[in-house]
Amino acid sequence: MAASKKIDVFISQDAIKTRVKELADLINRDYQNQEIILVCVLNGSFIFCADLVRNIKVPVQIEMVSLSSYEGSQSTGEVSFRLDVKQSLVGKHVILVEDIVDTGLTISFLLKHMKLKNVASLKLCSLLLKRARLKIEVPVDYLGFDIEDKFVIGYGLDYDGLYRELPYIGVYGA
Ligand code: IMP
Repeated sequence: MAASKKIDVFISQDAIKTRVKELADLINRDYQNQEIILVCVLNGSFIFCADLVRNIKVPVQIEMVSLSSYEGSQSTGEVSFRLDVKQSLVGKHVILVEDIVDTGLTISFLLKHMKLKNVASLKLCSLLLKRARLKIEVPVDYLGFDIEDKFVIGYGLDYDGLYRELPYIGVYGA
């Protein structure tokens, strides 16, 4: 894919802003006065997580994890840890914050791993889901947008490390 190719807006900045606020409101409603830990799945969800957390009204901590599973625009299906959470999650209310669930292999690996940590509760918040691409059932508790099978970039999502800075979610134009 050439770096100079035209990028079309797929989900606008305004639509993202509205939906992120709605997701945060759902989380605020569900957790009331309970403390939560948002686990930001790097690198793709750093912008989503930053916007989400600024709309959260319950006590909240942020942790980061990093997994490797993707090369270029094709999933390899192999997942491994680059960075795990720094604190004990025993008895904590944990929400994993993901940019996109594609085949579901990455987040399933992470959900299984997190369940072993004896958390009080574990939920998944994903900005995007490509339902048609799922290879495994994934329970997305808080979903931003259910999208068709397109490779998307921007708002944290990359193609070979580029385009994360775009304020909207885009696709390569024809
Ligand atoms: P999965 O394991 O196939 O669900 O892949 C999840 C990861 O693949 C995401 O966290 C993204 O980093 C990456 N990914 C999947 N689809 C896209 C896309 O359309 N654009 C950018 N990254 C993607």
